Amino acid sequence: MHHFHYRDGRLHCEDVPLDTIADQVGTPCYVYSTATLTRHYNVLADAFDGSKYLIAYSVKACGNIGVAKTLAGLGAGADVVSGGELYKALHAGIPASRIVFSGVGKTRDELKMALDAGIHQFNVESLPEMERLSQIAADMGKVAPVAFRVNPHVDAGGHANISTGGAEHKFGIAWHEAGTFYQRARDLPGIDPVGVDVHIGSQITDISPMRIAFEKVVTLVKQLRAEGFAISRMDLGGGLGIPYKPTDNPDTPAQYAQMIREVKQGVDIELILEPGRMIAGNAGVMLATVEYVKHRDGRSFVILDSGMNDLMRPALYDAHHEILPLAEADSDTPLETVDIVGPVCESTDRFAKARSMPPLKQDDRIAFMSAGAYGAVLSSQYNARPIAAEVIVNGDVFDVIRRRPTYEEIVALESAPHWLTQQE
Ligand code: LLP
Repeated sequence: MHHFHYRDGRLHCEDVPLDTIADQVGTPCYVYSTATLTRHYNVLADAFDGSKYLIAYSVKACGNIGVAKTLAGLGAGADVVSGGELYKALHAGIPASRIVFSGVGKTRDELKMALDAGIHQFNVESLPEMERLSQIAADMGKVAPVAFRVNPHVDAGGHANISTGGAEHKFGIAWHEAGTFYQRARDLPGIDPVGVDVHIGSQITDISPMRIAFEKVVTLVKQLRAEGFAISRMDLGGGLGIPYKPTDNPDTPAQYAQMIREVKQGVDIELILEPGRMIAGNAGVMLATVEYVKHRDGRSFVILDSGMNDLMRPALYDAHHEILPLAEADSDTPLETVDIVGPVCESTDRFAKARSMPPLKQDDRIAFMSAGAYGAVLSSQYNARPIAAEVIVNGDVFDVIRRRPTYEEIVALESAPHWLTQQE
């Protein structure tokens, strides 16, 4: 469910025509819908009503302060994976007591920063990380609340590049070593083992592999409790996958919540969820303008002003995004088969191959749907292209929440080496 629909022949976000935003802000430009973000958060929160839970929005999916603040206002916490994301989450008004810190490679400075802030939980992924965290915490006179991320060796399917729960992946501690880890934590002064954490991958649209992984986690929680550990939290990682195509039919948040309720039945424990995509994915689109249409060797290329640097997912994962013209085509308009590409000097700078589209011409505008998660956050300034602007809509109003940098700003952090600039 999202709030991007045609009205009077113009694609709207909530009550704002997207061509109005494109005119005022320019393209490429990301547009997020407050109503959709709110709906996605509330559907999940409602599904867990009555349980002890923390929805720690995975900031990596869409870390714009405007989006994070919108979610903070609904009660969301944050799942962060770097000092930068921790800074952003705090800056957006998410209290430290609702922040969990994930990731395999936390630096000393990042651990110190998180200890200083007093975050809710560290999701620890290795023995050296546990030892480093204990040392730093003890030096600061603190004890870090820790969940160990266990690797349940469950194949979640989905794209190989975003699957994480197999033995070959770098994530988590080995399942058979979990007991030893918790025992070791007992001896470390700076560690308080409070939870078990798992995350088997992203864009998982079928809850069955999740169920298998979560059942294993519940078994481990029971075993650890029997061994005397006060395990009070179970972190179940990222959320469900989302529909990218009209024909996609993923399991619903309600089914997901029901499955978790069943799995944890009879176990009194705080649930931590780290959804990113299911909250932000269908709450955002990327707008682009057609620069040229070129016909060559029997193919038609629609060349846009947005490139792979603005939306990496097709180049990185062969990802499919629906592409809609901002001006609705008549239903009887014959479709054309086109390749939709960007201006970047790379062959992977292609958003869609042999896509059926209504005829497009120079200066037409289009929207890449379902681009709210892992869209703007993955962008770069490759080819010295300014990062796309970001806008959020709320009913009939909108605001720019990240403006496009100027060329001066693009070079502002760079300088020539002193030996080229010193005067004779
Ligand atoms: N928690 C952990 C530990 C994660 O690694 C991730 C995603 C999440 C939560 C959030 O997962 P979600 O609810 O969004 O599925 N760039 C890729 C996706 C990478 C996901 C990385 N980790 C894409 O565009 O599909």
